[in-house]
Order: sequence, then structure tokens, then C-alpha cells
Amino acid sequence: MSIKVESVVPFGRSLDEYQKVFNLSEGDLTKRILGVGDGPASFNAEMMQRGYSITSLDPLYKFSAEEIERQFYGVVDGIIQQVKSMPDNWVWTYHKSPDDLRENREKSLKRFVGDYELGKRQGRYRIGELPHLRGIEDKSYDLALCSHFLFLYSDHFDCEFHQAAIQEMLRVATEIRVFPLLTLGRKKSVYVEPVIQMLQSNDFDVTIQKVAYELQ
Ligand SMILES: C[S@@+](CC[C@H](N)C(=O)[O-])C[C@H]1O[C@@H](n2cnc3c(N)ncnc32)[C@H](O)[C@@H]1O
Repeated sequence: MSIKVESVVPFGRSLDEYQKVFNLSEGDLTKRILGVGDGPASFNAEMMQRGYSITSLDPLYKFSAEEIERQFYGVVDGIIQQVKSMPDNWVWTYHKSPDDLRENREKSLKRFVGDYELGKRQGRYRIGELPHLRGIEDKSYDLALCSHFLFLYSDHFDCEFHQAAIQEMLRVATEIRVFPLLTLGRKKSVYVEPVIQMLQSNDFDVTIQKVAYELQ
């Protein structure tokens, strides 16, 4: 059994989770970072509090903070219920239980909401979506990150989408990192190999790294 969702879920993670998921060093944090599909993560807000300024991009940002909150609360309990119904599919080391997971997702959402209007005015939250990052110039970022969108939703987006999306991220950034490589069904996405082949045939260096974060 795996989590069933109609569409991409508006859940967000914290800066600490992003650091673990992407192996971000203190040096990485000083880079020009683009978070693609950051949604209601508190990554941007927490980076701001630490004196860094990054850009987050998501189609969700066409909505107000209130609407994003409404979307979150519209799905969170159903998803946590699904998680509770299959406890063995999850690793409870970072988040201690389904209720702790819910609390942490809510905490990220609240931090995001508190920063959203200011961040929008400052251009830190931009409306946009893969596979075309319109209005973003070539190599204008050092690092582009994509957490819990590509590969995870392999049932919703096909191989061509993944290849185009990753090529597009590499157009705007020197380096990109993507997590996870698993689908919602907890299997390695069948698009990982074709994407790697495409990248290697275009002379990009590709590495798969084990990181200190596991949930699925
Ligand atoms: C599960 S959330 C993950 C949010 C955040 N990256 C994190 O890990 O905390 C997936 C996000 O992908 C966004 N999304 C959906 N379609 C997208 C697209 N075509 N391009 C970029 N992001 C997209 C959704 O709006 C949502 O905010």
C-alpha cells in the first residue's frame, strides 16, 4: 500500500530538513539558491532569519496565504490518517510519530505564512512551475533544489516532463539537487535512469548520495 493523492500535496519542510535532505553545508547556504517547488516550506523564511536570501518558486504562490493554509488543512488529516494506517512504511527517526509529523508540517506552514507577504514583496516567493522557469536567466543561481516533487510524483508526471524539468533547472543553475528519488509508492522512480542517461550524454556529472534523512 502507498499514499494515494489526487494532486501534489501542499506540505512543506523546515530548513533543518532541507539541510539534511540536500546535504547542505554552511558554505552551500551562502550560495545563490533557487528552491523549485518550495510550496509552504519554511526553508526560505528560516534562511531569511539567518541572514541569507534565497528565491522560492512554486505555482502555489498565485494563492494568498489564507488560501494556501486552507489547502493544507483540507488534506493534512486525511494524509496523516493514511500514514497511521501503514505504520511500517515509515521510518520514525526524524519525525517521532504520525502526530509529530503533522505538528512539524504545521510548524513549517505557520513560519512560511508569517513570511509570505513580505517575501512576495521582496521577490523571494515567485510564481512559476516546471518544466519552464519563465523569466529566470541562464545560470542566475549557483544551486537549484527540488524537494519532494520530481520523482516522488512519478504517477502524475511522465518521463519527458522529468527530463525537461531537470534540463530546465540546469539551465538556470550551475548545480542542482533533487530529493527523493523514490515515488509515493516507496520504489525508486523508473525515471531516474533515463534522466541520468540524458544528463551523462550531455556531459553533466551526476552523483547519487546517501543523506541523513529518511521518512518513507
Ligand atoms: C510536497 S510539496 C513539497 C514542498 C517543498 N519542496 C518541501 O519539500 O517541503 C510539492 C510542491 O510542488 C509544487 N508543484 C506542483 N507542480 C509543480 C511544478 N510543475 N513545478 C514546480 N513545483 C510544482 C506544489 O505546489 C507543492 O508546493
